[in-house]
Amino acid sequence: MECTMWWWTWVLGIIVIWWWNEAWYVLCSRNGKKLPPGHMGFPFVGETLLFLWYFKILRRPDDFINSKRRRYGDGVGLYKTKLFGTPSIIAYTPEATKFVYHNSETFILQWPNSAIMGNNALVSAHGKAHTRIRNLVTNVLNRPPALRRIALLIQPRIAASLQSWAQKVQFRAYAEIKKVTFENIGNLFANIEPGPLLDTLDRLFVGLLAGVRAQKLYVPGTAYYHAIRCREELLKIFRAELKKRKQNRLDGVECRNDLMDGLMDIKDDEGNQLRDEEILDNIVGLIVAGYESTSLALSWAVYFIAKSPQVFQKLRVEENVALSEEKNGEFITSDDLSKLKYTYKVIEETLRLANPAAFSFRLATEDMEYEGYRIPKGWKILPWVRYIHTNPENYENPMCFNPDRWNEPARPGAFNPFGGGIRYCPGNMLARQQLAIFLHHLCAAFKWELVNPEAEIRYLSHPKPSDGVEITFSKF
Ligand code: HEM
Repeated sequence: MECTMWWWTWVLGIIVIWWWNEAWYVLCSRNGKKLPPGHMGFPFVGETLLFLWYFKILRRPDDFINSKRRRYGDGVGLYKTKLFGTPSIIAYTPEATKFVYHNSETFILQWPNSAIMGNNALVSAHGKAHTRIRNLVTNVLNRPPALRRIALLIQPRIAASLQSWAQKVQFRAYAEIKKVTFENIGNLFANIEPGPLLDTLDRLFVGLLAGVRAQKLYVPGTAYYHAIRCREELLKIFRAELKKRKQNRLDGVECRNDLMDGLMDIKDDEGNQLRDEEILDNIVGLIVAGYESTSLALSWAVYFIAKSPQVFQKLRVEENVALSEEKNGEFITSDDLSKLKYTYKVIEETLRLANPAAFSFRLATEDMEYEGYRIPKGWKILPWVRYIHTNPENYENPMCFNPDRWNEPARPGAFNPFGGGIRYCPGNMLARQQLAIFLHHLCAAFKWELVNPEAEIRYLSHPKPSDGVEITFSKF
């Protein structure tokens, strides 16, 4: 009897706390306008445990939003919640997401730990400083002349890696893809060849990436502390390289024409060049933004194609035609790549389903209204791109890997693998090109199978098969 009383007291206590937390936010945010439907969860943790339940335990991430739709109805595409310690609004329809992306002056980008990226990095900059750096970075990275040069620069390493995979027979594709992606980053960003220095850089970037979403605790032993130390080491290495290049220029030594040289040379409309700290922060920031995202997308392409023999056959035909047209065995050019229509459909479909980031973060810098609902100042707003990509209302049979769906364009606002608005990924064409080059060499000459086709998928921190996409691999 006493035990039952004790138990009921607990249950009642939890319900009261749950409702009190809700009432607190609703009362504080009244201001004559309704907050979107949803629930703020428990004090402090909010609905983070529910989020982890769907993403980590059940491994059905899309049901996090589906469960809200069942409870609170469809509404206007917004739900209120509290996640990761912050009151937040989830935007889960193409229309609501577009509204967030295109009101970029009110909803500003907030990376979880911007100190790790550097204050001058593109992701940390705002307003005019952002526009200036973004234009410069885009020119160096994402425009046709840069892409033409990069296509030829990265191909030899991709082709050589695939040859070496065939010797290994069985391995984890994600680890191998990361390796070749980082080798190309070394080459592309600072002309660093594989060897001890590149291994050190890789180790430091892995440490830095591990701190991006960690608790901001600058205490030895924490991931955040380690990430800041890795950043300091990285800056030391790149600063020495920058100094060497400046001296070389004074001595009349020829430029290397890589990204560091590009960032050193480029000028804004007023003829100003980037300061040293801007160059260094952006080298680190671009590698952080491009390394894991590209490696994951390439790994998912390997995974999806292995599960779709008919897609592989179509790719193989297209890639072999392209191969026979390559002049004198030279590598494929950026312009010829754009003719590989089916390959690009496979890339779009991979990006739709791979969703390296389920959602992104914005901060409301003032009160906003959307379809009669209030988005309060100081709250986070989360464009939930993953759900838009996997919702049957936006894509027929959404979990099926079907590149042919790209015979038609997606519904407006329903395809956001690279975000939207002024923060749209400046590496999007580079990423697509890397995928196209990789698929071109992979499908023309090799075949592979998944060792564990039913391997569990882990969704945090990024979606990835739990076996690291283990494959058997051979030449045709
Ligand atoms: C498949 C690969 C990639 C994916 C899926 C991807 C995805 C994204 C997304 C979704 C955003 C927007 C984030 C937001 O709105 O909060 C973004 C921004 C960004 N990406 Fe990428 N990205 C990829 C590759 C790259 C590459 C290769 C680079 C550069 C080398 C790069 C550099 C950046 C930078 C600097 C930003 C911040 C832009 C700004 O704040 O103005 N990304 N990326």
